[in-house]
Amino acid sequence: ALRLIPVIMVTGMQETGARIKGIDAGADDFIGKPFNMVELMARTKSLIKVKALNDNLIDFENVLISLANVVEAKDAYTEGHTQRVANMAGMLARKMGLSTQETKAIRLGGILHDIGKIGVADSVLNKPGALTPEEWESIKLHPKTGYNICLPLKKMLGSALDVIRHHHEKLDGTGYPDGLKGEEISLSSRIMAVVDIYDALVTDRPYRKGMSEEKALKIISREADEGKLDKEVITNLTEAVGG
Ligand SMILES: [Fe+2]
Repeated sequence: ALRLIPVIMVTGMQETGARIKGIDAGADDFIGKPFNMVELMARTKSLIKVKALNDNLIDFENVLISLANVVEAKDAYTEGHTQRVANMAGMLARKMGLSTQETKAIRLGGILHDIGKIGVADSVLNKPGALTPEEWESIKLHPKTGYNICLPLKKMLGSALDVIRHHHEKLDGTGYPDGLKGEEISLSSRIMAVVDIYDALVTDRPYRKGMSEEKALKIISREADEGKLDKEVITNLTEAVGG
C-alpha cells in the first residue's frame, strides 16, 4: 500500500540525472533546498488531492469486484474464476506487449466478463445435465446483458466493455453474440476467450476434477487448429504456465 502514498523529495541535488533517479525510486515531486514552506505546503496539498483520486479509483475497482461476486454467489461453478481469469489475462496482456492502460482494462474485463449471467435463471446456470436449446439461448445472452449492465461505466471501463461483450466470439465467426471474425475481435477479447476456457478446464467442478495444465493446453490448441482461438495467445499462455 506504500506505493499509493505520494512522496515529495526535498533535496539539494539539482541535476536532471539525480531527479530521474528519484522518480525511478518512486518520488512524485521535488523541492530544492533551501525550501520555501509555503511552496512545500502547496505541493503537499496538490498531492493529497491526487491521493484522494487514487483512493477513489481503488474504491471503484472494489465496487466492480463486489458486482462480480454477486454472479459468483449465484453460479456455484465459478468460485474464484473471475479473479483468476483477470490475473491471467492481465499477465498475458503485459507479456504480449499491450499498454499499461489496455492491461488494466483487460483485468477489469476479466473481473466483469460474466456479469451478464445475473440475467440467466439459476436453474439454467446450475443445471447439472444437458441444456435444452432454449436454455442454451438464454446463456448465450450473457455477454450482451453484461455489456448493457456496464455501459453506464463506459468512461471508466474503456475497452473492458469490449471484453465483456466479445469474450465468447470465435475467430471463424461461430461465436456469440455478434459473430465477429478474425481481426474484428480485439486482441484483449481473444486473450480473454482463451483464458476463460483454460481456467474452466483446469478447475475442479462439483461433477468432475479439473484437468492437468498439459491436457487443457492440448484442448485449446486443438480449438486454435480448428481456427477458433488465437494461436499466439495460446503460445504465450503455454510459455507462462511453463508447458
Ligand atoms: Fe462468459
